Amino acid sequence: MDNQNDFEPRILGFCCNWCSYAGADLAGVSRMQYRPNVRVIRVMCSGRIDPAFVIEGFLRRMDGVMVLGCHLGDCHYLTGNYEAINMINEARKLLEYSGINSGRLLLDWVSASEGARFSEVVTNFTEEIRALGPLGAAEGRDFSELEFKLRAAQATARGEKLRWVAAKQTEFMTEGNKYGEVFSRHELNRMLEGVIADEMAVNEILLLMKERPLSVKEMAAAIDLPPPRVLRYVSALRKKGLVDLQSLDGNSPRYAIRVEEEVQQ
Ligand code: FES
Repeated sequence: MDNQNDFEPRILGFCCNWCSYAGADLAGVSRMQYRPNVRVIRVMCSGRIDPAFVIEGFLRRMDGVMVLGCHLGDCHYLTGNYEAINMINEARKLLEYSGINSGRLLLDWVSASEGARFSEVVTNFTEEIRALGPLGAAEGRDFSELEFKLRAAQATARGEKLRWVAAKQTEFMTEGNKYGEVFSRHELNRMLEGVIADEMAVNEILLLMKERPLSVKEMAAAIDLPPPRVLRYVSALRKKGLVDLQSLDGNSPRYAIRVEEEVQQ
């Protein structure tokens, strides 16, 4: 849409069955006014939201994604909404690494009796997204540029490494790791960011090689990383048997994916 005033944001809303979906229902039956921009998906608990769902929403060209659950302490599965905080924190980091304004993702709480609050949250978020503009506008990038990063982010979110760290967050902050070391939120954030940076780079490299065989230099230029760092990732992928030396271009080796099915998308 060319004219910013005509822009109607497309928003995906995940609502938990027991509170926020009931709140949305109450807003509807009470005929409360709210913006019609949200497409709602009902989930049993906000803790069910996987960062990959959020990324999928943006890949489907939503301009904003909101996750609404029960107020803290009221989750019907006790700790689901605390897990949602961890998941949304992770999803925000993936969006930032993809060059997407993390203000496009909202986590909030609405109870079954808060129809008016549901309508207020939806209206406010719609206006915030309207102010940001269509996906890519606030980011200064075309969707095609964002799409490549989002695909790498999706593979990262689905990957074993990030899932393991994400699943251990609460345990590491309360009971500690197997050596009894308890981590602060700040330390865990740093650990998470390190894993995301590595996994995003690896998945971008795999996506590039899926198109055609490439040298380390070409890959480094395409994803704007130093060649020694890219070489380190390519060597690790070769050790895992995912990548092969395909040809030599002068002195420069070109690498290709060995088993395409291993690329998670
Ligand atoms: Fe609503 Fe868990 S059931 S957040």
